[in-house]
Amino acid sequence: MSVRVQLAFTVACAVGCGDTVTTAKAALNNADCQRCHVDVATSWARSRHHHAFDNPDFQRSYTEEPKPFCRDCHAPGGLNAAAEGVSCLHCHASEHGVVTGPGLDRDAPHPVSRSATFGTDTCARCHEFEFPPDSRRPEGTMMQRTMAEHQASTHANKSCADCHLPQTELANKRVIHDHSLASTRDPDAMRRALLITAKREGNDLVLSLVPQDVGHAFPTGDLYRRLEIGAELHAGGKRVASATRYLARHFAPWRLEDGALNPAFEWSVPDDRFAGPTAIRLALNSDVESGSAALTWWVDYQRVDERNAEAPQRSSIADEIRLAEGRL
Ligand code: HEC
Ligand code: HEC
Ligand code: HEC
Ligand code: HEC
Ligand code: HEC
Repeated sequence: MSVRVQLAFTVACAVGCGDTVTTAKAALNNADCQRCHVDVATSWARSRHHHAFDNPDFQRSYTEEPKPFCRDCHAPGGLNAAAEGVSCLHCHASEHGVVTGPGLDRDAPHPVSRSATFGTDTCARCHEFEFPPDSRRPEGTMMQRTMAEHQASTHANKSCADCHLPQTELANKRVIHDHSLASTRDPDAMRRALLITAKREGNDLVLSLVPQDVGHAFPTGDLYRRLEIGAELHAGGKRVASATRYLARHFAPWRLEDGALNPAFEWSVPDDRFAGPTAIRLALNSDVESGSAALTWWVDYQRVDERNAEAPQRSSIADEIRLAEGRL
């Protein structure tokens, strides 16, 4: 390391720099960053960022829509570097060189341009975007808008990195920003994100949902994420009523003149995901006396694979997590 430190890189990257930061004496690429920053690179290697292109969920939908548009974010280094996914330079390179957030003030052998808002600004390129122009949706219809949701949330004063790249001490006692994005794939962390309490009023289920330190809508991100709230009423060994509701971004199907569904065009309508405390009532319509029927309920977090616009309950699900359930 000490030899390399002597190199005193002068990093200067032109606007729109791709995978290489060009320097007067040398060119730093992702492999260089990973070689010197082994601990950070090891945590990043486990992340959905590193696997943004080769993960099976992306590959399923990309096979149907293999567009350069998708690769801008899932393989920003181009097809030859697709297996790298979202790598070091896609977050750390700027017009001025290698950027980082405040407070680290470490003695780096390469120039660092520090920005107090790096931990949020560097996410904006990919976590806020419109549908592609050829999707025939009204201009400005957003495909994801986590940045705007974050701005509007009560946690706007925390950066995305404060919650998603937290500082951790490794077994070797080194402290790094953990780049693995582990929490969003950890069922226990997902359960902690919502405080759910249930009560019964007659045959109705009344749920209180209170987000715990979530810095945006829940769920956020991918437009097919949703919460399924379900309840069933059982009496005399039989199911006598059931009800389901989805908290999600909903898309009203757009119909052709003959009433048939036009699959190529949908209006995005206001969504009912939430960023603050929310109460949901599910009515279970049944003549059964409430005292003689048992009410069971559940809340599932679902990553929807293919959405069924006509019958949301028949959408195919890539992955689901039971956040809470009970019997009243
Ligand atoms: C020759 C080895 C070497 C290479 C190559 C290298 N770094 Fe560093 N970098 C260091 C050292 C040493 C430090 C200071 C100690 C530390 O933070 O680990 C540092 C510090 C940093 C910091 C923290 C700066 C601060 O003060 O807050 C960031 C961010 C960073 N490097 C990113 C990168 C990225 C991205 C690349 C690839 C473009 C890269 N580095 C390439 C050795 C290197
Ligand atoms: C998704 C964007 C993103 C990617 C990809 C990324 N970083 Fe970071 N990195 C950050 C953020 C955000 C911070 C923390 C900044 C803050 O909060 O001050 C950070 C901090 C660092 C630091 C400061 C030292 C530390 O651990 O605290 C180094 C060094 C670093 N990253 C190197 C890398 C390397 C090497 C790679 C590729 C293996 C990489 N980063 C990939 C966003 C990213
Ligand atoms: C170059 C584009 C790009 C940048 C910059 C970027 N991301 Fe991402 N991010 C992605 C993509 C693409 C995925 C989805 C990967 C997948 O699951 O297919 C993703 C996934 C994630 C996930 C995991 C979500 C899940 O479903 O598990 C989190 C959390 C996340 N990003 C946070 C951040 C934060 C915080 C920053 C800024 C510090 C950032 N990202 C910067 C493209 C980016
Ligand atoms: C106050 C903390 C906090 C802040 C700030 C925050 N998030 Fe999150 N985020 C969460 C929690 C909690 C979850 C739920 C899963 C978990 O525990 O990680 C989550 C989930 C996600 C997911 C996964 C999608 C989902 O809903 O399951 C993505 C992507 C994401 N955040 C991106 C971002 C980005 C980008 C920013 C900044 C614009 C940001 N987050 C700011 C706490 C935060
Ligand atoms: C502007 C950046 C951007 C573009 C363009 C983009 N994505 Fe993504 N994509 C993301 C981010 C960020 C996430 C992570 C959000 C989350 O985890 O909630 C994501 C998540 C996904 C997921 C969910 C993966 C999972 O975790 O289940 C799929 C599937 C996906 N994208 C497919 C595509 C396809 C197909 C295209 C092209 C038609 C595309 N994306 C274009 C940024 C982008």
